[in-house]
Amino acid sequence: MTDVIHTRAELVAATAAAPDQVAVVMTMGALHEGHRQLMRAARERSAFVLVTIFVNPLQFGPGEDFEKYPRTLEADLEACRAEGVAVVFAPSRAEMYPDGPPQITMNAGPLGEILEGASRPGHFAGMLTVVEKLLRLTRADVSYFGEKDYQQLTLIRRMVFDLELGVGIAGVPTVREPDGLARSSRNRYLSAAERTSALALSRALREGAAHDDPDAVLATATKILEDEPGIRVDYLALTGADLGPVPASGPARLLVAARVGGTRLIDNVPVRLG
Ligand code: PAJ
Repeated sequence: MTDVIHTRAELVAATAAAPDQVAVVMTMGALHEGHRQLMRAARERSAFVLVTIFVNPLQFGPGEDFEKYPRTLEADLEACRAEGVAVVFAPSRAEMYPDGPPQITMNAGPLGEILEGASRPGHFAGMLTVVEKLLRLTRADVSYFGEKDYQQLTLIRRMVFDLELGVGIAGVPTVREPDGLARSSRNRYLSAAERTSALALSRALREGAAHDDPDAVLATATKILEDEPGIRVDYLALTGADLGPVPASGPARLLVAARVGGTRLIDNVPVRLG
């Protein structure tokens, strides 16, 4: 039985009654296989999984898709029930921000200014602010996040470390469509032609990551992206696994962001440099 709740008072009651450690999966709804994989990973280790559904206005910039972001609560609840989720917390904006936008917010630091942060000023500050609030409100012991949003995951780990939040953060590999496209709530904005163009992102990453030399990784991925006229690349970057400088050898990360029509898509893969 999945309990669907909307208020802080209900949340206090639900977590007080939790039998085990509280495992939390935070989402903005429009749930797909990627979100469901996080729920499954949580369910494997915890009897009590709590999913939050909240489209956080703080992390959307002016002109971004806050208004049109898909809201599909009934289908989302069905997915949570099917995955054995104990509680779904779906607060209103007023429940999360009872006094309007907060005056005290997170500063995402230098890691928040590169890559996604350079294109989306304030995005990571808004994201970290709501994640920190939700970690506290849900009394999470462990929280699961997707590698799909690799910079987000890296920043959340860093926040927990720097601010001694004392909660476990688990990363879950990206779930893809059979043809390679990373699952995303925003994929539903794509026309059939745009969806075909969007495949260049995952193909560029996959073929780039087959190399172990940084120049070859970037040259291979760049060529594939350049050959696809239907996309506008925002960045293609090879970094260390912690988003720092590229190491001479060992684990690294290849990340991309591009516009396909009016939709901005991101993706990334692990790379092993030789
Ligand atoms: P949202 O985009 O709904 O994603 C919720 C969680 O699902 C994130 O941890 C994200 O990385 C993960 N996820 C999305 N697509 C995935 C995929 N294809 N494979 C694996 N995991 C995937 O990210 C957010 O919401 C928000 O920023 C949030 C953390 C909820 C704060 O508002």
